Amino acid sequence: MRITLDFGGMMADAVGRRHGLTVEQIDAMSERFKVVHQNLQQRRKAGDLPFYELPYDQAALKKVLKTAGRVIKECEDFVVLGIGGSTLGGIALFRALAHPQHNLLPEAKRKGLPRVFFADNIDPEGFSALLNLVNLEKTVFNVISKSGGTAETMSQFIIVRDRLIRKLGRKRHTPHIIATTDPEHGHLKALAREQGYETLSIHPGVGGRFSVLSPVGLLPAAVAGIDIAELLAGARNANRTCKKGGLWKNPAAMNAVLQVLAYTAKKKPISVMIAYSDALRDVADWYRQLWAESLGKRLDVNGRVVHVGPTPVKALGVTDQHSQLQLYMEGPFDKVITFLTVGRFRKTVKIPAGFNHIDGLSYLGGHTLNDLMQAEEQATEFALTQARRIHTGIRLPEINPFTVGQLLFLLEVQTLYAGGLLEINPLDQPGVEAGKEFTYGMMGRKGFENRAQMIASKRQEIGSYRIMV
Ligand code: PA5
Repeated sequence: MRITLDFGGMMADAVGRRHGLTVEQIDAMSERFKVVHQNLQQRRKAGDLPFYELPYDQAALKKVLKTAGRVIKECEDFVVLGIGGSTLGGIALFRALAHPQHNLLPEAKRKGLPRVFFADNIDPEGFSALLNLVNLEKTVFNVISKSGGTAETMSQFIIVRDRLIRKLGRKRHTPHIIATTDPEHGHLKALAREQGYETLSIHPGVGGRFSVLSPVGLLPAAVAGIDIAELLAGARNANRTCKKGGLWKNPAAMNAVLQVLAYTAKKKPISVMIAYSDALRDVADWYRQLWAESLGKRLDVNGRVVHVGPTPVKALGVTDQHSQLQLYMEGPFDKVITFLTVGRFRKTVKIPAGFNHIDGLSYLGGHTLNDLMQAEEQATEFALTQARRIHTGIRLPEINPFTVGQLLFLLEVQTLYAGGLLEINPLDQPGVEAGKEFTYGMMGRKGFENRAQMIASKRQEIGSYRIMV
């Protein structure tokens, strides 16, 4: 069972030469691809890109399954605390592969699995509502922070720990916290050691947005009953083609080349991913972060100021046909669109026949929602082609742990190739770090006083431009 990259809609044959690509243009990227490819393979061999090895990490898989087994046995609710790359992967897996209404199912129908929540923001209203909803006695909190110092996650942790201790006492609160963090460094690791929390490790060389196939994504998925061994098998399968040295045989490299050509040669600064599946909508969300944080950079690898990076947008089919599509069809020619499609849905819903006397409704009867979804997706691709808008399709034969594993791995490797082709470092995030440092300054963290001063003096410089409603 293999997913397919279908890029006919990117080609000049389909949309004309002004916006579309030719085989010659793609082939002209072969030399650059070779250099990027060799560099990635060398770095991989040298152990410099450990995310590539996550699908092969049997020890991590075993440990996650053991921990998940304990959690499933002991708790009713499982709450992930984290932000960015520490939660987006888990959310994507949960949405794609757990029951669509997992948390609303009665316990018996959940087969004893806990409800799974992701507290990925610090909005006081949302966070307190969640803490009031769960029974602390029966809840396990998975604090996920690679650095162990992110203000949002650590604030959540401090609040939760305090409430647990007040409710259960210092000794009994311990099994209610599991820390997923760097194996050696950071405050979270140190605290976990000191307090005796169970810990799961994130390889020091794996950044947040490349960590979905590590315990970061695997533990919440396993607790939700997802077959994580199959997920990893799918990723390993994708690796077989995504490491090939020929551009036309390597879907990750090809999609990177197509996206980069769309951005550079065809001047399409916006890259939309539209998932025609509720289950895949958060894969598009996860990918948005992967693409944005990895490719949006001020400096290239030679230290030159380039301010590069396509803007990723996520959308949902068919819902956003009634929201975004007008713009995509008739607005500026500034987008490349990726369709995430599903060959066979896990459920079929028939539309009963009827209303034979109303032509505008009778045609629907006898079809299925599946037919309608597929027809709308294909019609939209066709309409975009007619309107000379470039697009690709990533087609999943069906949604299961294996194909989702393939998909995530494909997109991760594609991102590395795109970074190489754009000559930037896709693995750092200096812009995010800068924001974090200003927050520390404003919150009074020692050592960051000058950041607070910088904000205060800038505020004074800028006049007040306000109107009250
Ligand atoms: O992808 C990334 O590197 C970021 O989005 C991080 O995951 C995010 O900032 C959270 O960092 P941490 O896991 O260190 O708390």
